[in-house]
Amino acid sequence: MKKPLIAGNWKMFKTASEAVALVQTIKAAAHTVSDVSIVVCPPFTALTEVSKVLSGTSIALGAQNMYCAPEGAFTGEISPTMLKDLGCRYVILGHSERRQYFKEDDILVHEKLKTALKYSLVPIVCVGETLSEREAKKHFDVVKIQFDESIGRLGKEDIVKVVIAYEPVWAIGTGRTATPDQAEQMHSYIRRLLNERYGKENGSRVLILYGGSVKPDNTKSLMEKPNIDGALVGGASLKAELFAQIILEAQQSRDAGTHS
Ligand code: 13P
Repeated sequence: MKKPLIAGNWKMFKTASEAVALVQTIKAAAHTVSDVSIVVCPPFTALTEVSKVLSGTSIALGAQNMYCAPEGAFTGEISPTMLKDLGCRYVILGHSERRQYFKEDDILVHEKLKTALKYSLVPIVCVGETLSEREAKKHFDVVKIQFDESIGRLGKEDIVKVVIAYEPVWAIGTGRTATPDQAEQMHSYIRRLLNERYGKENGSRVLILYGGSVKPDNTKSLMEKPNIDGALVGGASLKAELFAQIILEAQQSRDAGTHS
């Protein structure tokens, strides 16, 4: 049985001291949880301090972005080696906000993905359609292109190290979650793409997270779906009690045994 993964994407919120206060409360609230992998992704400027608080715990540290080179003349960018040095194990890549506001495309996301794997970071690669794409019934096509271009060019040995996050853009920060059925439809589609390309044994090992207005009261119904292996949480990860509640809901749905 796969261990569910709950990751908090703090986006551009929290100064270093605010981040320490938040992660201390999360650490206290989650200390009894052992059946869920927990990741927090603070802004770059808080990684050092948060890393100190997490030292010796099972909560992992992640970054929200990185550049696809170990070092170099890339003003303003952060490299995988720098993230590793601060204790990061995970990195979010290709978030829709990076794609929308910073013009990241699938080619760049793929370069970042290869670099993250080369430097042994676990990439959480985001895919997902906009509202107009869904309304035009193009959501499966859009996600297939994102998958093919940014993820599906990896080899078999690498794909099993990747985490995929399906984040429909229309559900991010809007309070409008995809229904569990809508999310599962896309997750099972992504699973099919993985299985077709990499074989069922490899495809079934890849964690597929759902992201978009995940809250304590919708976590369980999402996590009960067979292809939803966890969540990438934005707004609710900024409130320790909500994030802890989401983690507990994930643990309960695992205990209920809905995942193979
Ligand atoms: P919200 O949970 O705030 O909708 O954000 C989702 C997200 O973008 C996580 O990466």
